[in-house]
Amino acid sequence: MKAIVITEAGKPEVLQMTERPKPHPSANEVLIKVEAAGVNRPDVAQRKGVYPPPADAPQDIPGLEVAGIIELVGDSVTRWKAGDQVCALVKGGGYAEYCTAPEGSCLPLPASLSFVEAASLPETFFTVWSNVFDRANLQPGESLLVHGGSSGIGVAAIQIATALGSKVYVTAGSDDKCKFCEQLGASKAINYKTQNFAAVLKDLTSGMGVDVILDMIGGDYTSDNLNTLALEGRLVLINTMKGKDVQIDLGLVMAKRLNITGSMLRARDVGFKSAIASSLENNVWPLLEQGKVKPVIYKVFPVQQAAQAHELMESSEHIGKVMLSFD
Ligand SMILES: NC(=O)c1ccc[n+]([C@@H]2O[C@H](COP(=O)([O-])OP(=O)(O)OC[C@H]3O[C@@H](n4cnc5c(N)ncnc54)[C@H](OP(=O)(O)O)[C@@H]3O)[C@@H](O)[C@H]2O)c1
Repeated sequence: MKAIVITEAGKPEVLQMTERPKPHPSANEVLIKVEAAGVNRPDVAQRKGVYPPPADAPQDIPGLEVAGIIELVGDSVTRWKAGDQVCALVKGGGYAEYCTAPEGSCLPLPASLSFVEAASLPETFFTVWSNVFDRANLQPGESLLVHGGSSGIGVAAIQIATALGSKVYVTAGSDDKCKFCEQLGASKAINYKTQNFAAVLKDLTSGMGVDVILDMIGGDYTSDNLNTLALEGRLVLINTMKGKDVQIDLGLVMAKRLNITGSMLRARDVGFKSAIASSLENNVWPLLEQGKVKPVIYKVFPVQQAAQAHELMESSEHIGKVMLSFD
């Protein structure tokens, strides 16, 4: 099969198309003929050599989410059969013509979505569900602040949380991105390049603060995040793009009874991911079917142009998802 591999750690051009043996599914896995794959920020970190894949994942083929048609199923697979159309969260190996996925990490292709649209869902939807709804326990009627509102993660979080009854605030790096986030459902998008989000949110919430913050930035955002949280607020970290070493006021954590948490999805086991898949199928797939939550695709590249797709992602010009398609 054809696959994009990371030939060495480095710039986007280290991504090269090559021939690889077709993978074989183990007992609890399916083999997917990949029609489309999503590009995610962690793929960029892996390509740079700063985010090594788990030992049991393909080591040099990036790609954490795919959509396509099941070609073969392992001996103990019960739900799926050859010919089924699915999207799947995978530990790696998505930038290839064929990819294996655990049975429980696959979800049915939502009605009326294309393969490209469906492939844009797993990585961000699993991450948002697991962190915002499971770890931070966001409830209807509560408020959520999402940093990086125009990211793949951000556009998923805005739509899911709004559809499930929360008020969503976001930060983003341009007025155009802010406008887009508000059109998607955010009640206020703050351009962090021109305004301090903590000051704006203090005004907007009359000093009460927000219940949950989904943060991928870390660094100097952290003290503003803690100041912006309401009593019993929850800060959930999924990356630290501005740095992981910070100083915080522990007195504030005690006084406001705050919860600081975070997680990394990729290395979690099959059972953990299957449970998230079930929650998504029950709670979010109906929203996709009803059109209340929609994929946000910024640009689709033919898989041969994976390097250009990474260049676009690193430019941060995009809003929503950058995708790869297979002919
Ligand atoms: N923990 C997990 O399990 C997990 C899983 C998936 C993704 N993630 C993380 O979630 C984040 C979003 O992923 P994604 O694939 O949705 O990424 P993405 O679409 O590339 O979005 C990242 C956005 O963050 C904004 N940003 C703000 N400060 C930044 C900085 N210092 N450096 C780079 N970008 C900055 C940029 O938009 P602006 O113009 O607004 O600055 C950029 O477009 C990434 O950090 C990723 O590593 C974590």
